[in-house]
Amino acid sequence: MTKYVGAIDQGTSSTRFIVFDEGGSVVESHQTEFEQIYPQAGWAEHNPQTIYETVVTCIEKTVQKMVDRGLQPLDIKAIGITNQRETTIVWDRETGEPLHNAIVWLDTRTKATVERLTQQTASRSRAHFQRVCGLPLSTYFSAVKLRWLLDHDEPTRRAMEDDRLMVGTVDSWLIYKLTGGAGRGVHVTDVTNASRTMLLNLETLEWDDSMLEFFGVRRSALPEVRSSSEVYGLVADGPLKGLPISGDLGDQQAALVGQRCFEPGMVKNTYGTGCFMLLNTGTQAVQSQHGLLTTVGFKLGKEAPVHYALEGSVAIAGAAVKWLRDNLGLIKEASEINEHAGKVSDTAGVYFVPAFSGLFAPYWRDDARGCLVGMTQYTNKSHLCRATLEAVAFQAREIMDAMNSDSGQAIQVLRVDGGLTNSDLCMQIQADIAGVAVDRPQMRETTALGAALAAGLAVGVWRSAGDFAAAGGQRRFEPEVRAQERERRLGEWRQAVQKSLGSVW
Ligand code: G3P
Repeated sequence: MTKYVGAIDQGTSSTRFIVFDEGGSVVESHQTEFEQIYPQAGWAEHNPQTIYETVVTCIEKTVQKMVDRGLQPLDIKAIGITNQRETTIVWDRETGEPLHNAIVWLDTRTKATVERLTQQTASRSRAHFQRVCGLPLSTYFSAVKLRWLLDHDEPTRRAMEDDRLMVGTVDSWLIYKLTGGAGRGVHVTDVTNASRTMLLNLETLEWDDSMLEFFGVRRSALPEVRSSSEVYGLVADGPLKGLPISGDLGDQQAALVGQRCFEPGMVKNTYGTGCFMLLNTGTQAVQSQHGLLTTVGFKLGKEAPVHYALEGSVAIAGAAVKWLRDNLGLIKEASEINEHAGKVSDTAGVYFVPAFSGLFAPYWRDDARGCLVGMTQYTNKSHLCRATLEAVAFQAREIMDAMNSDSGQAIQVLRVDGGLTNSDLCMQIQADIAGVAVDRPQMRETTALGAALAAGLAVGVWRSAGDFAAAGGQRRFEPEVRAQERERRLGEWRQAVQKSLGSVW
C-alpha cells in the first residue's frame, strides 16, 4: 500500500507544502511567496491570516496536482509542520483573530526593550539567563517581542489582563488554525520551537516560572509544550480533513533531522533568509563560550530522549541576495547573482557586511548595521555580487570557528542545504573560505523532509529514524585556495565587521 507524508514548510519569505513518499523522495509540492511588511526601518511583520491562507493554498494546489497525475491524496497518512522560528503571534482566545501582525524574528524594534531588560537582571548581563534557556537577551527571541507587544499594543495588553490572550510561534498558530481555530483549535508547540522563546527551561523542557515572571507573561497564554513527533490534533477542514498533524519542528532543527544528524558531533548548515549551523551535542545541553546558542535539537516522540544542539545563527544570508534584487535592482532574478559573481575571480578588495538586523552569532550586536567597504572606481556589479556570496560564506566560517572552539574538535565536513546551496559558485566559495569539504545532498528539501520524518514516525509510516534511507547522492566541494590566502581574506573580513559595529561608524 502506498504511503505518503506531507510537510508544511512555513519560512520567512515563502510557504510550501511538500508530499514525500516512503523513500523520502518528493512526490509533489507547491510553493508561494507572501507579503513582507516593513512599517519602519528595522521592523518586519507578517500578517498571520495571510500566512495561514498561503498554507491552505499550498495544500489545495499540491493535492490538485496529485489528482491531476492520478495519485491518491488519501494516501497521505500524516502532516508535519516546520516553520520560521521565534516569529511571534498573538491572538484572541474568544474570536480566534490575531491581535497584531506577527513580529518577525529578524525585526529589531525591541532594541530598547533588550537594553531595559538587561538592566533589570541581577548581573546586568545579556547572558544572565543563558544557563536556564540557552539564549542571550536579544531582539531575536520571542519573549522579548512579546514583552514589546504587552508594552506597546493595547489590545494585546488587555487580552492578557482578561486572560483571553493566546501566544505562539508560527507552528502553534498554524496547528491552532488547521485544527479548527476559535473554540476548537489545539494550542500546542514543540520543544524545538519552545526553546527559541527564552521561556523554556532547557532541563525540564517546560515553561520556566522564573522566566515567565521576568517577562511578565501568564502561563495560560502559552501553548502546551510537546515532543516533536506525536499526534497533536486532526485537520478540521479542506481536502486533508481528518489527517493527523503529528510532526512539529522549528525549520533549522527540522533540517538537522532531515540531514540525519542524529549522532553527537554531526553538523549541518542551512542557507535560507538567514544561515543557521547546528551541531548535535547529544543528550546534554552544552553552554557555549563563543557566542553560540544552546537549543533543543529534536525529541522524536513523547518517550524519546531529547537531543540538544549548539547553534550559530546568521540573520542575513539569502536575504542579502534578495536585497540586491529588490532594493538595489542590481539583478532581476536571484539566480543571476551567480552569472555576475562568476565573471570575476575575486572581489577586488570589496567586503560587504549585511548586518541589516544587527549581527547575530558570534557577535550579538543589535547596533551593527550593513556596510560595504573597499570600493574603488574599478568596482563593478560583479564584484558586489561576489562580495555578497562571500559575505554568506564568511559569516558561516566564523560560526564554524566558534563551534570548533566550543567542542574542541575541528569540523571536517559541512553538510549543507537551503536555497543558496543551489549555487555551485556559492558552495565553492564556502569550501574555499571555510577550508573544509562541503557536502550538498541531491535532495535539498531537507527541512521539509525532517518535519515529514517526525510526522511519519508518530503514525508508524517509519518505525525508527534509522529506518529512513537517504534519497539520492550528494556532491562534494573541496577547498581550492591556499590556507594563507584564506586567512588573509578572513582577517580583512573581520576588519570590515568592525566597521559595521555601531561604536565605530
Ligand atoms: O530563526 C529563524 C529561522 O528559523 C528562519 O529560517 O529559513 O526562514 O531563513 P528561514
